[in-house]
Amino acid sequence: MKGVILAGGNGSRLFPLSLVTNKHLLPVYDRPMIFHPLETLRAMGCREVLIVVGGRSVGDILELLHDGSEFGLNLTYRYQRGAMGIAHAIGLAREFAGQDPIAIVLGDNILHGSVAGFASEFEQGNAQAGSVLKEVPDPQRFGVAEFDADGKLIGFEEKPAQPKSNLIPIGVYLFRHSVFDVIGTLRPSARGEFEVTDLLNYYLRRGELSYTVFDGDWRDAGTIESLHEAGVFAAPFATEQPIPNVGTSEGRDE
Ligand code: G1P
Repeated sequence: MKGVILAGGNGSRLFPLSLVTNKHLLPVYDRPMIFHPLETLRAMGCREVLIVVGGRSVGDILELLHDGSEFGLNLTYRYQRGAMGIAHAIGLAREFAGQDPIAIVLGDNILHGSVAGFASEFEQGNAQAGSVLKEVPDPQRFGVAEFDADGKLIGFEEKPAQPKSNLIPIGVYLFRHSVFDVIGTLRPSARGEFEVTDLLNYYLRRGELSYTVFDGDWRDAGTIESLHEAGVFAAPFATEQPIPNVGTSEGRDE
């Protein structure tokens, strides 16, 4: 399975921290934010990884990660012009993915726990899309899952004022290559973005979505409060995941 990190957008919810640098370079405890989703994909067994970059200082992301060899990854980059949403950014992975399934992790998502089992079940199964759900105390900030009286998942709403559950799709998604044709049929939402929840709803209606409730723990780092909380969250796990030796690589200024 190939991996994709979505690291576009302007990071406006993190201003002024992300005013003159890229949001994904901000520290989450002891490492730049983007190291966390890279580790998530590496732990899922992905070796070929595309990073979709956007916003400010994208060159600094390349300068930090270059070809990915310190992470045991082979990195490719694409540029997303404007903040057109997650589904639009996924569309930029079409040539990279070819016919292979892809695992997508949002650049500001921090996981503690494994999604590798879910990814390998997806690879062996028939579902066209996979979503990882997690219970949170503040679902209105996210996409929110809705269930019927029998506990069957029936839909997702993006940032609803009245959330219908506490379960949200975290920023880890699995897709087969059919996703690229579906993206072409989407319309932008009221906030002007191509929403990943519209993709999930498309596959759910067709009975082609598999999902799991994540038994690990998770944070996003997209707002000032959640960035601070993510650093506190990541601190106790820091020693479990040594920082790749990027600073002393050949050809770097020390
Ligand atoms: C995005 C998705 C949302 C998902 C969240 C997870 O929200 O649109 O469905 O629950 O990531 O981090 P955003 O980061 O754009 O607010």
